Amino acid sequence: MRYASPNAVSAMHRVGISANAVGQTLAELGIAETAARHAFERLEPVVEEFEQTADVTLLTRTIPTLKRTGRQVSVTGGVVLLRDVSELRRRDRLLLTKDATIREIHHRVKNNLQTISSLLRLQVRRLKSEEAISAITESVRRIRTIALVHETLSREAGEDISFIEIVRPLLRLVEEGLQSADRPVKFSVIGDGGRLPATIATPLSVVILELLQNAVDHGFPEGSKGGSVLVTLGQSGDGQLSVRVIDNGQGLKSDFEMAKVTGLGLSIVRTLVTTELAGTIQMRAATVADSTKELKIARDGDGTVVDLEIPIVGE
Ligand SMILES: Nc1ncnc2c1ncn2[C@@H]1O[C@H](COP(=O)(O)OP(=O)(O)O)[C@@H](O)[C@H]1O
Ligand SMILES: [Mg+2]
Repeated sequence: MRYASPNAVSAMHRVGISANAVGQTLAELGIAETAARHAFERLEPVVEEFEQTADVTLLTRTIPTLKRTGRQVSVTGGVVLLRDVSELRRRDRLLLTKDATIREIHHRVKNNLQTISSLLRLQVRRLKSEEAISAITESVRRIRTIALVHETLSREAGEDISFIEIVRPLLRLVEEGLQSADRPVKFSVIGDGGRLPATIATPLSVVILELLQNAVDHGFPEGSKGGSVLVTLGQSGDGQLSVRVIDNGQGLKSDFEMAKVTGLGLSIVRTLVTTELAGTIQMRAATVADSTKELKIARDGDGTVVDLEIPIVGE
């Protein structure tokens, strides 16, 4: 080494090379010489990165200085540019592990939620009161819905999910848990709702669960003969998500008023939609005009329509 610029000297100090560079060889300074050797052999600049210590990464750019005598080209020396890229590489590594960590956390949250719902199910088996049994069973279903979102998040990179990946298993969950054989209910879904951030997907899944539960409980109560429930998901261009849950069951009671409802289910729906999701809810009797290929409304007032409009704002 014949010359080291003042910047080079302080840069080397920072990465732990404190000897006086001038007069020493690269090897004596503790800098890998492979880059220099390659540059001198190939007669062209060589860029190489090496890990100086566990947390120092250096980027060297070695430019050979050449002399041409006739057709002969010889190396007279070279310039080594040294750059400390430790911070850059540390951030690269962090980014890689961040995704994996987030997935791992979602996985653990899912496991914890499953433990909670198992404990509650054990509790249900010891209860006698019908009301208590059905209250805790509903809670178990809500917890399983949230676990479902975390399970899906634990499989995907990043913090948003394809919403249909949650809605399909959610319909299955309701189909298994709420049906009874004497009044079969057919569930279907149209559209997919695109990708949603977890902050929207989690409360929205709980809302949809409540609406499905109500469709089964109140649309097709004991003694009725069953029917269909359809979920329609659509994203409009201006960042609105529309969700419709429609059933062709018994329909709303004549004195039904959304604002006066005191049930827990619709209270959860109202709170989550208006505060967490900043959206709107409309609930009304279905009409023949609401019929689709998947679900027929035979007469006006047979069945219930719930429409949600949710703004999707990226974080
Ligand atoms: N799909 C539906 N069809 C008919 N009635 C419904 C439907 N959804 C909700 N309702 C009415 O709204 C009421 C409130 O629902 P909710 O708040 O979920 O409480 P709960 O289900 O415990 O009664 C229900 O009792 C029912 O009368
Ligand atoms: Mg309910």
